Amino acid sequence: AEKGGYEHFMMKEMMEQPRAVANTLHPRIKDGKVVFEDEGLTDERMAKAKHIHIVGCGSALHAGMVGRSVIEKLCRVRCTASIASEFRYENPIIEPDDLCIVISQSGETADTLAAMRQAKKAGAYTVAIVNVVSSTIAREADGVLYLWAGPEIAVATTKAYSAQLAALYLFAIKLASVRGKITAEQEKTYCDALYQLPEQIDTMLGTKEKMQYIATRYANRSSIFFLGRGLDYAAAMEASLKLKEISYIHSEAYAAGELKHGTISLIEEGTLVVALATQPELYEKTISNIREVVARGAEVVLVTGEDFDGDASYCSSVLRLPKLPHEFSASLSIVPLQLLSYYIAVERSCDVDKPRNLAKSVTVE
Ligand code: AGP
Repeated sequence: AEKGGYEHFMMKEMMEQPRAVANTLHPRIKDGKVVFEDEGLTDERMAKAKHIHIVGCGSALHAGMVGRSVIEKLCRVRCTASIASEFRYENPIIEPDDLCIVISQSGETADTLAAMRQAKKAGAYTVAIVNVVSSTIAREADGVLYLWAGPEIAVATTKAYSAQLAALYLFAIKLASVRGKITAEQEKTYCDALYQLPEQIDTMLGTKEKMQYIATRYANRSSIFFLGRGLDYAAAMEASLKLKEISYIHSEAYAAGELKHGTISLIEEGTLVVALATQPELYEKTISNIREVVARGAEVVLVTGEDFDGDASYCSSVLRLPKLPHEFSASLSIVPLQLLSYYIAVERSCDVDKPRNLAKSVTVE
């Protein structure tokens, strides 16, 4: 796998995200419908699931957290996203016919593999969302949704994470359709929007220069916070991990409403807070949380929707997402934040593709 002229595999793979997401989506959208052919995921199987369990580690878990939010919103079926290393030891409550979605780029992560085996033993039907073909998780799962994202070399995942989100949107739309929660018209609308996603990701990659500039301002910070509510909280988790794992800056992702219950004591003059507010029904609440941290001296970078018409004059920078169904916003909000982490790590002369202490696939406990 070559770097294709880029300085790092991570940059190459960030730039490959539109193609990777298109590879996941396009074979599975036909005439305005989601189709899973020969992937071990039948309508009958999806219709009878009473609980969807999602397991994964790190970024795969964060994709699962976004997926959980979208699945519950669209399908109104109980869905939980669990840390695989916790799930495998907590004797999970699994009923026959439950579905367990197992997310793993490598398909070899020990904790995720063990969690899948635990779910299978308890009677769940397992569906792997993986990138590496014929990996152990892919071979042992009952059904497999391959990402077709191509080899991912950088330890910090970018294109595989984005492709995992795309696969989860497909699952959610299909599940909602099979359970009669959305009409054929609504399914077509969602599918049409997904067809636009690769191009919109490309648009967000166009914030490269802006994020490089912002990175130079904040590369020397000792701590950076990420805030969000609902689906934006899940996206904030991934943005925070990206920063931590390649720049070695301490970072936390917080549910915005939780700040006042302790963490706000850490906010002081000049603290950088990256706030995600892409869900219109939560704009007002999240903005009030942002004002709380600004009042205590924080500098805020806001990532919000094109339809946000509130006052953002107190934010140092504002990034707006192009118009899309709000359920899919995590696919766009993460892109500038991947770039921010990348440029901060470069500014700090970190080994971007091979960060210290990390492996691309954690095949041991
Ligand atoms: C993400 O950038 C990290 N490399 C790490 O959190 C990774 O997502 C996790 O180890 C899971 O790996 P997998 O997707 O191969 O199972």
